[in-house]
Parts: sequence; structure tokens; C-alpha cells
Amino acid sequence: MSVRRECLVTSPGGRVAGDIRVPGDKSISHRAAILGAVAEGTTEIHGYLEGEDCLATLASLAAMGVVIERPGLGGVRIHGVGLGGLKAPPAALDLGNSGTSMRLLSGLLAGQDFDAILVGDASLMSRPMERVAAPLRRMGADVSTNGGRPPVTIRGGRALLGAEHRLDVPSAQVKSALLLAGIQAQGRTTVREPGTSRDHTERMLGAFGVQVWRDDGAVAVEGRARLQAAHIDVPGDFSSAAFFIVAALIAGREPLQIRNVGVNPTRTALIEILRLMGADIRTHLLAELGGEPRADFEVFPGSLHGIVVPEALVPIAMDELPVLFAAAAVAKGDTVVTGAGELRVKESDRLTAMAQGLTTLGIQVEKRPDGLRIHGGTVGGGDVDCRGDHRIAMSFAVLGARARASIVIDDVQNVATSFPGFKALARSAGLRFEEDA
Ligand code: S3P
Repeated sequence: MSVRRECLVTSPGGRVAGDIRVPGDKSISHRAAILGAVAEGTTEIHGYLEGEDCLATLASLAAMGVVIERPGLGGVRIHGVGLGGLKAPPAALDLGNSGTSMRLLSGLLAGQDFDAILVGDASLMSRPMERVAAPLRRMGADVSTNGGRPPVTIRGGRALLGAEHRLDVPSAQVKSALLLAGIQAQGRTTVREPGTSRDHTERMLGAFGVQVWRDDGAVAVEGRARLQAAHIDVPGDFSSAAFFIVAALIAGREPLQIRNVGVNPTRTALIEILRLMGADIRTHLLAELGGEPRADFEVFPGSLHGIVVPEALVPIAMDELPVLFAAAAVAKGDTVVTGAGELRVKESDRLTAMAQGLTTLGIQVEKRPDGLRIHGGTVGGGDVDCRGDHRIAMSFAVLGARARASIVIDDVQNVATSFPGFKALARSAGLRFEEDA
């Protein structure tokens, strides 16, 4: 993983327009790789996200004996070994910046017959892992953490028993880890959540031939499942499209078209929030593939006004809140977000990172324990630290179009974890950056 701190310097005045595609969905790519690895037969994936996070998942699976071919850009062919066919990795599995890899693999490896140690970069090594380890232990797994944080150490050879889990906060990563353990356990595993989290695992288990029971807020699988290889087409990542949706709204020259984006309803609340703020975003639905809906977007430039964001929408927009805060910075009036405490334990403390950066740029921000109040205004230039967090970096990159002067965004190298080629695509759509030093 890269340790050199890189910088991105925006130039004011960019005007966005055009017809673009964003890279493949990160969540769906991880799941396609993991399920493909433990399926029987050869899984073909198109549109796989070749960002560092999803490459870390592939490298870990390869370290456990899975043969993976990469036939061309976005193409991944996985020769599945079945749920009992993974081999002990020769060393600790390094998941880089990827919390999704670490949590999902914890669930998968809890039911295997070998030991494994999961590590990552400095950000990942400081993130909470007991939320996965504790419920896995209730199924009989031997999973330990270092005071709640990685390394996650998993001792194999434990017979897992299905269990009923009730999560304190909605979390797709925790739910997915428990389902991955559940398909290996004896009996039924049920996960209940207090709100909505993304449901890609449930949908994709279906595509791999596993029966999944779903009922208001609960999902269940039977143990000792067998997965059949599948063909997976990964749609564009809504979370990556979000940066361009906001860029087109706040700095558009003409409508921006964004093609083939995943529009799973557990992901797209940002659209609803932006519409409440006055945005004109049109969705043209495409055929569903592999159980995942997709659409083309057409985004019309226009002015936004502040709102109190309905709390019910917040969990379904969690990854998009940093760029929503950027939009709020140029909206008329106040935007208030609450119920977003989970932002503090993402790749960085995103509430603090956005509040500090926006304050540096001259925007009035009031920090709440679980959110922010942002008073829209005139954005100045300045130096902001994105704390190695890809989504913070791209949020300020978008805001740069509306700033009076350059924004120097430090520590941006992790943009490649989720959005390889961001800067080139942003330039092609009309955002401006100073030449690299
Ligand atoms: C993800 C789940 C989300 C999200 C993350 C990716 C996933 O986290 O923030 O970027 O792929 O399962 P939660 O586990 O908090 O839902």
C-alpha cells in the first residue's frame, strides 16, 4: 500500500458537463469475488472495480489457494473451490484500507478449518472489529481482536452453530459477515437490524443459488449451503457517481449524463435528499442484472437550498454524506444532518474531517455528536487534510469548482481505493486541477 502522501490542488471555475461512466460498484465487487471463490465452478465477473480495496480482496483469496484470472479491464474469472476448499494463507492477510474486506472475510474464515490473521493499513488498524467478532463468537467461532481493533485473529476448526442476531446499528458489513458464517453453520442464522443497510449480499447469495429468507428488517440463511458459480455484471458505483451528481448540480454547465449506475434502493437516498434540496436529477431505469437494479442519470445544474435531512434517509446515504456536506456548503441556508454517528468510525472520522475542512474554507459549521449543521456560503481557498480518506478527498475536489481560490487537499493517495482514475474522469467532465508538482 502507498505510504507517500499525495496532494490534489483544485483550480476554481470548473464547469461540469458531458456523458460519463464511473467504475464498478465496490460493495458488489467484493461480494462477487468472495462468493465466487467459495462457489462450485467458474464465476465470470464483468465490470469488477479495480480499486485497491477490491484488489486486496482478490489477493487474499488468491493467498488462500483460489485461482483468479484477470482477462482484460474489469474482467475477473474465479475458479471456485467450494466452501470447504480454501487453504491456510502462508502469512497474515493484508486488507489495506478495506474495512469491507476485513469484516466480510472474518465471517467467511470463522467457519474454516485453518487459522488466519487479518491486518491492514493505519486507518484500518484503528477501526472497530468487535462488532463482527462478538456475534461470530456467539456462533462458536474463535475470533479475537486487539482491544476491539485489528489484527483480527481467527482460529479455525470450530463447528459453527446458527444463531439469531440483533444488531445495535444497521451495518451491511456486520450482517454480511454473519451471513457468510451462517451459510457454513449448522442450522439457521438470522440477522435483525434496527434500520436499513445495503442488501447486496442477500441479493448475490440468491444469484449463487442460496435461498435467503427476508422479512421486515430481518434476513436468514440455512447452514451447510452450496454455492453454484454465477455470471456477475457489476454496475457503476452509486457512491462514486455521487461525486459527479453533486459536481453537476453545483458547477454544471449543461446536464451531465452518468451511465449504468447501480440504483439499489438501499444505496440511493442521496438522490432523495438532493431533490428535497431542490435538485433536478432524472433517473432512466435500465434492465436489472443479477438482482441489482441500474439506471442512467441525467443531472441538471441548479441552485440548492438547505434542509433538515430526514433521519430515516441517513443510513441509506452514509457513504455519500461527505459530498452532501460539500453541496450544503454552497446551498442557500442551513442543512442539518443528525443520526450520522457512524461517520466517526469510517476510513476517518468523517464528521471531524469535513467540519474542519469546511471551516478552513470559510464555511460556518456546527458540529453535533452525531451530525453537522452547515450554513451555506461563499467557499474560499485553503489547505485541507483529508486524513487519507478517499471520500473526503473527492468531496473537496468537487467543492473546488465553487471555491474562490485553490483548495490544496493533502493525503489523497487513497482515492484509488475506491475510484481509480478519478482525477482524469473529473478533468474530462470539466473539473480543474493544477498540474501535479
Ligand atoms: C459496505 C457497508 C457500509 C459502507 C461501506 C461498504 C459494504 O458500511 O459504509 O463503505 O460493502 O458492506 P456498514 O457496514 O456500516 O453498513
